[in-house]
Amino acid sequence: MPVQSQKQHRWPFEVRPLTPRLGAEIIGVDLARGVDDVLFRSIHTAFLQYQVLLFGRQDLPPGRQVEFARHFGEVQIHVMNQYQKYPEFPEIYMLTNADKDGKPTGKHPDKGTLHWHTDGSWRERTGQATMMYSEVCPPVGGETEFADMYSAYDNLPAEMKKRIEGKRAIHNLDFSRTRRHGEDPMTAEQKTKVPPIAHPIVRTHPETGRKAIFLGDHAQEIEGMDYDEGRALIEELNRLITPRGQVYTHTWRPRECIVWDNRCMLRRATCFDEVRHVRVMRRCTINGERPF
Ligand code: SIN
Repeated sequence: MPVQSQKQHRWPFEVRPLTPRLGAEIIGVDLARGVDDVLFRSIHTAFLQYQVLLFGRQDLPPGRQVEFARHFGEVQIHVMNQYQKYPEFPEIYMLTNADKDGKPTGKHPDKGTLHWHTDGSWRERTGQATMMYSEVCPPVGGETEFADMYSAYDNLPAEMKKRIEGKRAIHNLDFSRTRRHGEDPMTAEQKTKVPPIAHPIVRTHPETGRKAIFLGDHAQEIEGMDYDEGRALIEELNRLITPRGQVYTHTWRPRECIVWDNRCMLRRATCFDEVRHVRVMRRCTINGERPF
């Protein structure tokens, strides 16, 4: 649906923008009661328009979360299966530093999340949406930052647009995992399941038709380019596309659910004191399409 007509949508809920250009809070939807197809169509329209949707004050058990995620499409079962907690819901990826007694372990669950990335860019069919539910939030830090990749593309200097035209980056989970959380590397079996894959640096969003930058921390090198030259370009781009002024920072409260569009967003978590405080988040990613 063209973006213009989305803006004239009559919402069956209240929509409160989070920033002038990105994100909206949806008020008046109780996710635990289930979402029917009619309501979902409006949620999906808002999702395409605002890119990040916040549903506050939700009591969303894991099964309901997966059910809501399934409205968007096929829910991914992540290759890093050590993050699964519920045998009946392998789709849920737990980001937690709580031990079995609910005390902090002192370890960050996934230091890769502290760097700008988009989910599943290391797969052939990359992440469409990701949905995260907050169970326990630290008093300070542990925010999630979102950067809009449509504006990132629109605002790139013409010379840079020309430099990256037609170029593909090779995304590799083993590369980012080793670099950021190397103390807990992927197993040989996990690596075999997700070999490196090339995707265009500029992609066209399959539903809005808009161009967006598709890069982030899983991008290892540029196809057909000298490795170091490619790395320098990736680092430069990753900096250029995430300027402070264009980032929405979400400070979590418990029982919030946020869903965002991985095809036009990068995100990262901010640090928190994992020795003194607990942070427990439940994440599900919905598979999308092969970027073009
Ligand atoms: C993620 O990047 O998957 C998680 C972000 C967060 O923990 O805030």
